[in-house]
Amino acid sequence: MTKIRLGVNIDHVATVRNARGENYPSPVRAALFAQNYGAHSVTIHLREDRRHINDADLKIIKSKLKIPLNLEIAATNEMLKIALKYKPTYICIVPEKRKEVTTEGGLNLNYNKTFLKKLIKKLKNNGSRVSLFIEPKIKDIKLAKFFFESDCIEIHTGKICNLINSKKNYKAEFQKINKCSKYANEIGLEVHAGHGLNFLSSKILSKIKYIQEFNIGHFLVGESIFLGLKKTIKKFKTLIK
Ligand code: PXP
Repeated sequence: MTKIRLGVNIDHVATVRNARGENYPSPVRAALFAQNYGAHSVTIHLREDRRHINDADLKIIKSKLKIPLNLEIAATNEMLKIALKYKPTYICIVPEKRKEVTTEGGLNLNYNKTFLKKLIKKLKNNGSRVSLFIEPKIKDIKLAKFFFESDCIEIHTGKICNLINSKKNYKAEFQKINKCSKYANEIGLEVHAGHGLNFLSSKILSKIKYIQEFNIGHFLVGESIFLGLKKTIKKFKTLIK
């Protein structure tokens, strides 16, 4: 199995920008930096409330990025229209609740099944590869492949990340993710994984050879502050001395 691809989610660059209503830090610049520094893809989640990434970000990022763009959207008519217009390489369908701080769990694949199936078909016919963000459950993987005919799944890693972070026993959850990834691979699905990943949890999960891609955002953007503070402070000191 080849090495795991790294998808860099830059939503929270936009969160910082929006906190001040300024035009920096620029998510477009972050997307291009990610590309230059070896990311395999860039992920953005266009939320219904546009709390971080907005339509203009999507438009410019899509026009400038050379590596694959993975657009996360909720299964709504508004998002379908936008996704059809921009035709990103990957589209990941995620659940979205207006009040949640972040995506809280995998999709409920039994909700509005007919609509979701039609939406996936339209996106696939338009040339995007469609992924479903789901919990590690064999039942949902079967539905993703055989009912929804998605190209990929993204396994929600929130639970195992919480267990690892709180130093609890994560072995059973690890086995579950391993088993689900293996099965998904065997039936021809591309397997992605994400949510809550940091250095330790991604290292642990990288032992699962059936996962093809990690999508990492919040920790990666947060940690970049610390990896970048030294240079930024030095630059200021040079400028004002
Ligand atoms: N994958 C999906 C489908 C997501 O919704 C998110 C969160 O937006 C992520 C990955 C990234 O999660 P995090 O920001 O915790 O790394």
